[in-house]
Amino acid sequence: MTRARLFVWALGLAGFGCSSCSTNSNGDGGERCDPLIERAHLDCSSPEVLRAQQLMRSMSLDEKVQQMSGPPYNPNNFFDQERNERLKIPGLLYLDGPRGARWYNSDYGTTVFPVAAARASTWNVDLERRVGRAVAREMRALGRHVLLAPTINQVSHPRWGRAQESYGEDAFLLGELGAAFIEGAQHDPTVAFEGEPAEETYRIQACVKHFAANNIEDTRIYVNAVLDERTLREVYLPHFKRAVEAGVSCVMTSYNRVNGSYSGFSKDLVRGILKDEWGYSGYVITDWFARGQTLTSPAAGLDVEMPFSSGAFPSQFDSAYFYGRQLSSAVTAGQVKEDLIDESVLRILYAKVHNGLLEHPVDWKPYLTKSDAAQALALETARQGIVLLKNGPTRALADDVLPLDRHVMTKVAVVGKFANSENMGDKGSSDAKVVDGSLVITPFEGIAAVFEGDGATVTAYQDVAGNEAAIGGADLVVVVGAYFYADLARSSSGEEGEWKDRASLQLPQRDLSNIAGAVALKAARPAMKVVVVLKSGGAVVVSDWVAGVDAVVMAWYAGMKEGTALAEILFGDVNPSGKLCQSVPVRESDLPAFLNAVTGDVPYDYFHGYRWLEKQGVAPQYAFGFGLSFTSFEYANLRLESAAIGADGTLRASIDVKNTGPRKGSEVVQLYVGYAGTSVSDDWGRPVKELKAFARLDDLAPGETRTATLTVDANDLAYWDVASRQPVVERMTYQLSVGPSSDSTDPNMRTTTFEVQ
Ligand code: BGC
Repeated sequence: MTRARLFVWALGLAGFGCSSCSTNSNGDGGERCDPLIERAHLDCSSPEVLRAQQLMRSMSLDEKVQQMSGPPYNPNNFFDQERNERLKIPGLLYLDGPRGARWYNSDYGTTVFPVAAARASTWNVDLERRVGRAVAREMRALGRHVLLAPTINQVSHPRWGRAQESYGEDAFLLGELGAAFIEGAQHDPTVAFEGEPAEETYRIQACVKHFAANNIEDTRIYVNAVLDERTLREVYLPHFKRAVEAGVSCVMTSYNRVNGSYSGFSKDLVRGILKDEWGYSGYVITDWFARGQTLTSPAAGLDVEMPFSSGAFPSQFDSAYFYGRQLSSAVTAGQVKEDLIDESVLRILYAKVHNGLLEHPVDWKPYLTKSDAAQALALETARQGIVLLKNGPTRALADDVLPLDRHVMTKVAVVGKFANSENMGDKGSSDAKVVDGSLVITPFEGIAAVFEGDGATVTAYQDVAGNEAAIGGADLVVVVGAYFYADLARSSSGEEGEWKDRASLQLPQRDLSNIAGAVALKAARPAMKVVVVLKSGGAVVVSDWVAGVDAVVMAWYAGMKEGTALAEILFGDVNPSGKLCQSVPVRESDLPAFLNAVTGDVPYDYFHGYRWLEKQGVAPQYAFGFGLSFTSFEYANLRLESAAIGADGTLRASIDVKNTGPRKGSEVVQLYVGYAGTSVSDDWGRPVKELKAFARLDDLAPGETRTATLTVDANDLAYWDVASRQPVVERMTYQLSVGPSSDSTDPNMRTTTFEVQ
């Protein structure tokens, strides 16, 4: 709704007075908000809330319950709620997903962005906001309302099949990137965005998922995540709280159990924490076919069952429908209070009113997807998200092998099962597809384009074995190591994705053989360069082979322009700036065990990722936050605005970063806080240090110095105090480290201390 129309409409309502208010019992003539509105954490004085309330009050019980689930089973449509024809209220039209709008039944396709793991590795919240915005525009072009993204579950183990969909292993990074995506996706289209024209249309609603502790695929519909309160509060929930603060409209519950209860009927989690404690005013939906209970889910705070209200149930889910007819009957029988139904419906209707669904019908304009601007954004994101892990025998610039000089190369081999075939990641619910294959640039195509017209030959091979003679004469061998995407049919070929955890942190055997083959050829011809490109959603162990290769690049699944961005980096048109959103251990046994075969209780550790490795005193292969550049930086002059802050104050730190190398480059400055003086003495204690702020400095010219300013809210330093059941900020001396990664031994790491008083 435009501001002008909203104003006129609000004036109209004002004539009726505050229908949701009643005189309070204090006898002072003051007005009290309708308890239902209060319970939904909505604003009593908002005309939009009053409109939603009026609509809700005009509905029969069956009409209300209809708002709370999908339609009866329809094998061709898993995403459309039914419309209320009598009151002309549209049903919510949902669609995934995390790397772009998931539309596969049309001739149009959509922009495929790098997966969230790659986008997190940009550490660029502005870019992520733009990605959220671009995906939302495509959702509108496809006539949808609710974007089933972002996925912000912890990558508590890099073998998790959906690690690619999420923003890494750190709660702070997950929260910042997830919030940016939500803000971009939910941007009011009637307000211009970064030079784009304003549009008279409805607002997309983001649906953050999966609440909570959804970190294992193979057993996802059975596993019981067992977490003590500190682990839940400090590790698995803060990023969801951040999503609520960012104004997310919709929260999706997870398939798994949390401390014994499926999240769809976990009163503690949904009603208790999400709604009552955090004051969440949006609505809560199930994951597709996830469990709930007719009698307990409404009280637990679950508002919508998806995707259907009745009909066939897929064999892999041994459950049954629980809202729809069953819910109406339970209310009629007095088993569920109608008040609970009213609260859910109020939340749902408010979302429809607030986001302009009643004013603006959906419009089918699929030809608007994959705009040049969206494709350029996908390329820009790939450039910033690809991480350079190894470049030459040492980390000294003088030993760099990349960027390569294209003019001295006459023969290039690109090897691997996915060297020249489309592999943009999982083919489960996050499967955005371009459809027009010519727009998907594979690694081979990206590299071949660099040499077009140069007379050099660039050839793709599946394997080194059998092609030794041809590959042996190459100047450059690029080995692409990648996992076969899983699909929802759970075909046996799937190696990573939804329903499919990775079998190990090693590359598949075919890729290991290719690397060994290339290294053997290099032994016979040392001038040959061997570069390994990794494509994965999670960290890959490289320790067995890394010494033998010249360079290693982590591309994640970098979207439809992956090959272009990769080639730009290999040949120096782009200086890499990506930093790991997950730690890479030396060996898998350095991490906590990944219990993806257990259908019962799985204890969740308070520590994982870099917090675990640091606590154990085990050095990683590549630290969380690490990534190389073709230039070098020098960090100096770490200073604090004040070395002492109050328990709800803000710490402000600055540091000067100088580009001391030969090229323009961008740097991600990271701030970690350490708790060596803690008096928390339970089984966990506190981590060695944790990420609390970061800033990207883009395009520093050689010789240029720029200052990064970082702020930390003292509240973000709290631990969860089990006795008082609240966050407590310790009053003590904290250690502060600012540097280019979490690696405390990095020569650029600058440290100081500060006090919370
Ligand atoms: C996935 C969700 C997805 C939903 C709808 C489920 O299997 O876990 O992430 O949004 O399907 O496609």
